[in-house]
Amino acid sequence: MRLFKKVMAVGLASTMVLSMAACGGGSTETTAAATTAAQTEAKAEETKATEAAETTAAAAAEATSDFDASNVKVGISIYKFDDNFMTLYRTELERYLVDDLGFSKDNITIQDGKGDQAEQSNQIDNFITSGVDVLILNLVQASSAPQITDKCKEAGIPVVYINREPDAEEEERWASEGINATYVGCDARQSGTFQGEEILETSNKGDINGDGKVSYIMIQGDPENVDAQYRTEFSVKALTDAGVEVNELFKQRGDWDQAKGQQLTQDALTQFGEEVEVVFCNNDAMALGALQAIEAAGRKVNEDIYLVGVDALTEAVQNVLDGKMTGTVFNDHIAQAKSAADIAVMYLKGEAVDPVNMVDYRKVTTENAQEVLDALK
Ligand code: BGC
Repeated sequence: MRLFKKVMAVGLASTMVLSMAACGGGSTETTAAATTAAQTEAKAEETKATEAAETTAAAAAEATSDFDASNVKVGISIYKFDDNFMTLYRTELERYLVDDLGFSKDNITIQDGKGDQAEQSNQIDNFITSGVDVLILNLVQASSAPQITDKCKEAGIPVVYINREPDAEEEERWASEGINATYVGCDARQSGTFQGEEILETSNKGDINGDGKVSYIMIQGDPENVDAQYRTEFSVKALTDAGVEVNELFKQRGDWDQAKGQQLTQDALTQFGEEVEVVFCNNDAMALGALQAIEAAGRKVNEDIYLVGVDALTEAVQNVLDGKMTGTVFNDHIAQAKSAADIAVMYLKGEAVDPVNMVDYRKVTTENAQEVLDALK
């Protein structure tokens, strides 16, 4: 079980205890006077709580204003610049650090890992030697986290991992050994589930030809990446959990890449033709490629085939609005960039940080696509 879930479970348990205490006990024959007294007391408690919250907020604001970001050096490495989603993320991260948090653009260095772990590890070594104050890392291979974390720890540099999640054992080590390392991302299981639900929400629950089962193809991201693994598993699980029978016709890795998404979908449509009812893509870039192949094959999304992606790239959300994609899932790069940068600042201020920090995904269908599009502008 992931650490985040454990933290959530503890939080939930204490909320339950509190609400049980609030609802608990007492005679049912409460008099009007007692009710009024209880209400007065509750009101006083509420006022006290509000005042306490205001004091905490004021203290937090003061602490933030004390922090001077202008001389802080930040090293950022992105697994590769040539990735649509990570380009949006990196642009927002830099914008937020500079415009909202007051970092100097000259003190922020962003490197391109070029999809090569050896190259990225060299860049990180250089960041460490050059004496950056904090690192924000989108690893090429999440499995390199233990070695990289140890180097950062030795150099006394806190590290915020983003987008490609190290495994649970590594995250637990940060907590148990008190290492200044953390992960900011989304729980990819949720995005897979949302994709499956989008298919279940169609008029025939994905069974276009009415043969009692949903025949699908799966275009996967890089399978080393937990996002790819979970989206593949949980999109289909949403269908089977709802009692829908499934039939996997084809499953291949497209490495998050549009051109590969197009080629693979074309191959699958050539091989299986009309049989394909649903195209699951682990991200929108590959879904955009899949759409090209679907259109070239003379098929029509939402009429004789369904297509879903993840990320909410502007082009994909527009496609949802135009009925050319059944749905996508907003992988909120804005909230993730904000969280990663805010957590970097917490480290710099010496504050405690949780080992795992998750941001919610959001379903995007024709109903809310316009709203999401407006928010993305
Ligand atoms: C995104 C993909 C992206 C990948 C990079 C995923 O969360 O959905 O679009 O290529 O991250 O690691």
